[in-house]
Amino acid sequence: MKKLLFVLSLVAITAAPALAFHDEGVAHCNGCHTMHNSQDGALVDPDSPGGNAWLLNDSTPSDTCLGCHYGGGGGYHVFSDDLMAPTQERGAGDFVFILEDNINDGHAGGANPIAGSRAGHNINAPGYGIGPDNLISQAPGGTFPSGLLGCSSCHDPHGNENFRFLNGVGPVMDGLATFTAAAPVADGLALFGGGVEENDNHTAYISGMSAWCGNCHGDFHNNNTLLIHPSGSTLGGTIATTYSLYNGTVDQTGGGTYLAEVPFQDLAMTTSSTANPTAGSQVMCMTCHRSHATSGPDAGRWDFSVTFLHEDGVESGSWPIPDPYANLNQRSLCNKCHNKDAGDHNPF
Ligand code: HEC
Ligand code: HEC
Ligand code: HEC
Ligand code: HEC
Ligand code: HEC
Ligand code: HEC
Repeated sequence: MKKLLFVLSLVAITAAPALAFHDEGVAHCNGCHTMHNSQDGALVDPDSPGGNAWLLNDSTPSDTCLGCHYGGGGGYHVFSDDLMAPTQERGAGDFVFILEDNINDGHAGGANPIAGSRAGHNINAPGYGIGPDNLISQAPGGTFPSGLLGCSSCHDPHGNENFRFLNGVGPVMDGLATFTAAAPVADGLALFGGGVEENDNHTAYISGMSAWCGNCHGDFHNNNTLLIHPSGSTLGGTIATTYSLYNGTVDQTGGGTYLAEVPFQDLAMTTSSTANPTAGSQVMCMTCHRSHATSGPDAGRWDFSVTFLHEDGVESGSWPIPDPYANLNQRSLCNKCHNKDAGDHNPF
């Protein structure tokens, strides 16, 4: 018996991922904090000899996180060091696009630049060349101040049991704001060895995503009688059928599957599910957006300003989001649910 226990614990130890840090909870404090800004007689953070707020070992919460989460090569990096080789236009997307000079790939986009700060959430990370949004002072639809926005606005720096340890109901950032909606129920790919996003390998959005974004954005996109693209609402039979049949602009009714670029929320969703939606599946914020930033405006899962998906990246010279149908005549992915591209002439 003793021998068996010994073998089992050995297996448990060797199976632990080599690069774990948070270990699904609060990590060792000195990964992010320094008590005296001194170690071996030298400053821990040479840029801030007077120390940082919250005794952090870098100047802002986001700088602290990026000490590990910045770099190339995928895995747990969320801010890549190469605009043309983002670590991931999957899951949450990549903050590197905030650094772009122009993300406008629409008609005459070269002459009408859209600044990279429009690519998504501007986290306050001066050490990595980005600061708070210079145009929008608070979350559209809500009141969360842009100046505070950082990794720990959305993720609990001390870990919790939620999906990607997102903040749930209660105070966030040491009480600087308060969330009223619970963390979403979802399941993500493993950060090491989890593979790239595919139609059969993707975040599974199960419930509560739109309400969670609403912690800062209010009832955005649903907040009056006119601006009502539904979010967190059911698809209904007609749209569920369109989604299921749609297989690209040139194949409207050939039969498609779950498309990772246009996800829907469903209580039965799993990370490997390719099943089409039912009438009860939901459209939600992540149907059209990613949560960090993308190479398209407004953190779009695809570029909302181009007519043909292959135009993405042409004007701006930034990394193009791949067209899931790999066809020159492929139009906006809004068509997955609305097929307004039915009967379109193929100019190519
Ligand atoms: C992954 C980085 C990280 C680790 C690891 C970490 N902290 Fe923090 N801690 C932060 C950040 C960032 C803040 C600033 C508040 C915020 O942004 O939510 C903070 C704030 C605090 C605060 C003051 C505000 C509050 O929320 O109570 C205390 C106390 C604290 N941490 C203690 C600890 C202790 C003790 C440990 C180890 C058991 C630890 N931290 C580990 C990142 C971390
Ligand atoms: C010392 C390096 C280090 C620092 C600092 C750090 N992380 Fe991480 N983080 C990792 C590693 C390694 C992983 C992947 C393995 C793991 O989950 O422990 C990870 C994973 C994560 C995940 C995914 C967890 C999951 O299992 O789904 C999130 C979210 C995350 N980190 C957020 C943060 C935030 C927010 C901060 C700053 C408050 C931060 N990290 C600071 C190294 C770090
Ligand atoms: C902690 C608060 C907070 C949460 C949670 C939050 N946002 Fe935001 N969001 C902001 C703030 C503040 C801004 C304005 C500053 C900026 O654009 O960087 C913003 C801006 C945006 C923008 C406009 C970006 C641009 O460049 O014009 C989009 C799109 C967006 N959020 C979508 C989402 C989605 C989708 C979710 C849920 C996954 C979400 N947000 C969750 C605070 C939040
Ligand atoms: C506006 C809220 C928001 C901010 C700000 C934010 N995250 Fe996230 N993050 C999310 C959400 C939501 C997910 C889940 C995305 C999904 O699977 O669709 C996520 C996913 C992740 C993941 C898993 C990998 C992936 O790409 O899905 C890591 C690691 C992570 N975040 C770290 C960070 C770090 C580090 C920062 C700051 C540099 C940060 N996040 C800032 C909301 C945010
Ligand atoms: C059907 C697709 C779709 C859904 C669902 C959706 N959005 Fe959007 N969102 C867009 C598009 C397209 C834009 C670009 C601006 C526009 O068309 O009004 C945008 C713009 C935004 C902006 C930027 C506004 C600004 O002033 O710059 C924010 C913030 C935002 N969305 C948040 C959300 C949140 C939060 C949710 C979920 C509650 C959500 N969106 C759901 C498609 C969508
Ligand atoms: C996952 C499916 C899905 C996607 C993707 C989607 N929509 Fe919708 N859309 C819906 C649903 C569901 C409704 C409500 C249908 C109804 O009431 O008949 C709707 C309604 C609409 C309406 C009618 C609103 C009204 O007031 O009558 C417009 C316009 C629209 N969508 C445009 C868009 C655009 C533009 C995009 C891409 C940015 C988009 N949709 C992407 C599911 C989707």
